[in-house]
Amino acid sequence: MEVVVLDDAGEDAGQMGRDVRAGLSATPKDLSPWPKYFYDAEGSRLFEEITSQPEYYQTGAELSILEGCSAEIVARAGCGELVELGSGSASKTRALIDAMFDANGTEGPPPRYVPLDVSESALRESAERLVTEYPGLEVLGFIGDFDLSLGRLLGRSSDRDRLVAFLGGTIGNFTPEKRRRFLGALGDGLREGDRALIGLDLVKDERTLTAAYNDAAGVTARFNKNMIRVINHRLGAGLDPDLFSHRAVYNAEQNRIEMWLDSEGEQTVGAPDLEARFERGEGVRTEISTKFTPDSAARAFDEAGLELLDLYTDDHDLFALALGKPA
Ligand code: AVJ
Repeated sequence: MEVVVLDDAGEDAGQMGRDVRAGLSATPKDLSPWPKYFYDAEGSRLFEEITSQPEYYQTGAELSILEGCSAEIVARAGCGELVELGSGSASKTRALIDAMFDANGTEGPPPRYVPLDVSESALRESAERLVTEYPGLEVLGFIGDFDLSLGRLLGRSSDRDRLVAFLGGTIGNFTPEKRRRFLGALGDGLREGDRALIGLDLVKDERTLTAAYNDAAGVTARFNKNMIRVINHRLGAGLDPDLFSHRAVYNAEQNRIEMWLDSEGEQTVGAPDLEARFERGEGVRTEISTKFTPDSAARAFDEAGLELLDLYTDDHDLFALALGKPA
């Protein structure tokens, strides 16, 4: 196992200050272009807790697709290397690795797993677990932010055809512009025999969608407010997290959930270089989570020079894994 550092993985406080300043100067206030600021240690823990809430169907649905379809996906992709973007704890990756070992038989070199994550500790822990669980598995980890380093990661030479996976539906959190940039870089970076596998949450009835972001236990509300804590912590913003209330609504025109934090009273941001004021009742958008249809998925792939080969879905058509190749 080897771990290589590609960039500073979003730890740049100056950059965060500029992002938050831009977000709070916008009308309406909008921090949703930077979902990464949710995920400090507490935010990552809260997200894990969300995934076990009964209303939050995505994680279970994606896992069921992976368990049911990994053998077919790996057979079609014919890959010897699994590149996983934003691997985190790699809890869903095992189905794909199992399938690679099965497909490989006793001939040929053992599969290679290439995770990329911003969190060095999460990456090292999961990589170490995987090498003990799968004797022979080759692990080459990269620490970095794919905003900065996707091109470099895909540009490294490899003697294998690769399957590049981006699971969890994280692409839904990207603005349309950023999604185009990300898929474009993916389309540019894939070589002829490479395949992409991308997790997408699907459009479905509005009640199911809004319930998933308004869980009865209030975990999503705590996750949302944690962004204020992160901003206070890192930028000294001095906002009162408890003065904000959580709101998650479905924007049917844009096919996306939007999370907002509404300030129940007036407050000012007191950090140097970061002046902003919330009126009573004023909201800041903190996250978008775009939902796809088979058509919108095909269009997004197409725009990026990728051909959508198949959409694998769960039994209830809640979630999809989109398999694509360079067009
Ligand atoms: C990280 C994309 C899976 O958009 O549903 C969960 C993050 N936000 N609840 C999503 C999230 C609020 C999530 N993903």
